[in-house]
Parts: sequence; structure tokens; C-alpha cells
Amino acid sequence: MKVKEFKSLSDLHQYYAINNTCKLKKSATQPVYEKFVPSSGIVFIGEAPGANEDKTGIPFVGKAGKLLDQLLKSISLSRDEVYVTNVVKYRPPQNRDPLPKEKDACRVWLNAELLLINPKVIVPLGKHALERFIPDGRISASHGRAFEHKSGIPIFAMYHPAVALYNPDLKDTLLEDFKRLKMFLDGEIEIQETPTLERKGFSKEKKEAIADITSL
Ligand code: URA
Repeated sequence: MKVKEFKSLSDLHQYYAINNTCKLKKSATQPVYEKFVPSSGIVFIGEAPGANEDKTGIPFVGKAGKLLDQLLKSISLSRDEVYVTNVVKYRPPQNRDPLPKEKDACRVWLNAELLLINPKVIVPLGKHALERFIPDGRISASHGRAFEHKSGIPIFAMYHPAVALYNPDLKDTLLEDFKRLKMFLDGEIEIQETPTLERKGFSKEKKEAIADITSL
């Protein structure tokens, strides 16, 4: 199936909700996704749905979502203007971290969403989303900065809002990084080169695997 063949995001989601091999669909209530292309061109990518999202089918509606709404408001944006999605579309049991095979099973679905939306910027929230675009990037070192991506879409790294629920000091960091996101959108912050895989000494096999996972 080619992305161009989907008439809308809803069509795309309906297709991938059937055509995916993620084992989490057995334990989850439903897949979680948004249906509208964002007017701002900004796409936020979280990790995986939690209990509230599993119940409603809508991403980021729990405590982390409320904080995301506040952070958006701090730069005069509302949820309706941005797109929020997740690396994994189904809730992992007890909110555990998604497994590599679960992330892989939803990879094409997320790629398709991104291809259809063609974002102005992708904002990975936390390490699971960041590693997909910047495989050797660390959130603690790269948050609040914009990086090149081979798709041509800039990647603006951000902590996951949930971290501030456990470590309130990080709320100020998030507020500061949202300000920097606004500055980036206003052309006041430059894009940096993506950290290279060579520097970390990855094997050829690992580099090929990473290239596949990160391709849009
Ligand atoms: N955390 C996520 O990563 N995604 C959600 O949808 C909700 C909480």
C-alpha cells in the first residue's frame, strides 16, 4: 500500500490498525491515534499509550498529556494545532517500556503517518522516539536542540513530559525547551548535524539495521 493511496489520515489508521503485527493488540483495548493533519506542521512523538489513552483511543489525554497541553500553551499553541502520536500504537501491559519488536511492528505505521503529514518539524518526546531518528542520540545531551535528518525534516529533541511528573525540576527544562522550539520555528536557532554512528564505533551490521529503522 502506498501512502498516496490513502484519502485521509483516518483511512491510513484504519488500514494499519488491521495490517500490523504488534502483539500488544491482544491485550490493549484499542489502537491510539489522532485523525487530523496539523495546521502548524508540528508532530510530537511519544512512547506508547497509557491507561487513559487505551480507554479513549486518543493520545496524551492523561497526566502527561495535561502537562503537554500546558507546555504548548506556554508558546501559544493548542492541541488542535499540532499532531501527537506514539512510536507504539497500543498500550503495553502495566505501562512497561515497549519492546524492540513492538516498536518495529508499528514502524511502518508511524512512517506512513509522517509521509502523509510531511511535518515541518518532528519533536520526539523521550528516548524511544529519539532513538528512532537519532540512533546514538541521548536525550540528556540533545534536548532543546534541532538536528538534521536524512528525510529533510528537522528533529527537535525533547524530554518526555512524564519525566516532569516524577522529577519536577525537569518541568523548568521542558518550559525552556518549548521556548527554544518556538525560537527554532521562528528561525532563531540553527539545525545541527546529527551525531554520527562512526563516532560510537557501531558495527556494519548494526549500522545497516539502524539505517533501516530510521528510514522514512
Ligand atoms: N505517554 C506517551 O508516550 N504517549 C501517550 O499517548 C501518553 C503518555
